[in-house]
Amino acid sequence: MAANLKGRHFLKELDFTPAELDDLLSLAFTLKANKRAGVRGRTLEGKNVALIFEKPSTRTRCAFTVACVDEGAHPEYLGKGDIQLGKKESVADTARVLGRMFDGIQFRGFAHATVETLAKHAGVPVWNGLTDAWHPTQLLADVMTVREQFGTLRGVGLAYVGDGRNNVANSLLIGCAMFGMDVRIVSPESLFPEGWLVERAQAVAAQTGGKVTITSDVSAGVRGSHSVYTDVWASMGEEAKIAERIALLKPFKVTVGVMEATGRPEAIFLHCLPCFHNLDTEMSRQNPDICEADDEVFEGSWSRVFDQAENRMHTIKAVMVATLGR
Ligand code: CP
Repeated sequence: MAANLKGRHFLKELDFTPAELDDLLSLAFTLKANKRAGVRGRTLEGKNVALIFEKPSTRTRCAFTVACVDEGAHPEYLGKGDIQLGKKESVADTARVLGRMFDGIQFRGFAHATVETLAKHAGVPVWNGLTDAWHPTQLLADVMTVREQFGTLRGVGLAYVGDGRNNVANSLLIGCAMFGMDVRIVSPESLFPEGWLVERAQAVAAQTGGKVTITSDVSAGVRGSHSVYTDVWASMGEEAKIAERIALLKPFKVTVGVMEATGRPEAIFLHCLPCFHNLDTEMSRQNPDICEADDEVFEGSWSRVFDQAENRMHTIKAVMVATLGR
C-alpha cells in the first residue's frame, strides 16, 4: 500500500486523508482475497492486542478477535467490570499500563474523549471500535460493501435514513464525502447532524467531488440513490428514549416502498446490525413498533447486510495490519 500508517491511531475518519482511507480499503480487499484463497498472513505474529469493551458487541469483538488470530496476534478481551478503567484508575494511567504490555489497543465505549485519552498515553496504536461520536471501522466495512457491489465509490449514492446524529451517521457523512460519494442524511429535523459536521462534510466533498444532502423528505432523499442505509432508532445508552424515538422515526422506517422510491432496481439495503426487522428479539417483542426496517427488505434481494458484517473483519484486519503489522 502507498501510505505508511505504521504507529498511527484509528480514532475517526477526519484524522486521515482520503488517499490514506483508500489505501486501507485496498488493503482490506487484498486481505479478503487472501483469506478466500487460503493464504494465511503472519504480519501480527508475536503481537498482543487488548480489546476493551464498555459496551456489548458481536461484530466488532469477533472481527478484532478473528483478525488478530488470522494474522498471528493474541487478542485479550477486557470487558466492562474486568479492569479498573476510569473507576479506580484513571484512563491515562490504564493506558500507560496497557501500553507497557500490549502492542495495540481497541476501545469500544461511550465518551469519545476516553479513546482520545487512551491514544494520548498508551504509546501504542489505539483503534476506535465505536464511541458515542464515531464508528470508523464500521464506515470502512460499509464502503467496502458498496464498492464490491458497484465497482466504484465515486458518485455512488448512499442515503442514510433514520437517526441522523448518531455515531454511524456521523461516520457515514464524513467518510462517504471523503470517498467522493453522493451522501444523503434523511432524518427528522430534530435529529439532523450537527452543523459543524455538515460544514466539514461539504468542505471535504468540495475537494473529492462528493455531494452532501441533508433532508427530512424521505422520497426526495432516497431518489436516485444506489443504497439505503439505516440503524437502530435508539443507540446503546439511549434505551430510555425508545418510545419518543419510535414516534419520531416511524415515518423513516425502511420499507419496500422506500427501496422502490430510489428508482433503481439495483439499489442495495445496508445496516450496521444488529437490526430490528421482526419480532424474534426480546426488545422487539416488548416494542413491536421498534423495527427500523421491514422484514421484506432485510430478507429481500436488496439486502447486503451480512456481506457488510463479514467485511467488518477484513477492514478491521486492514487497520491493524497497516498500523501495527510487519
Ligand atoms: N455494527 C456493530 O458495531 O456491531 P456490534 O455492536 O455487534 O459490534
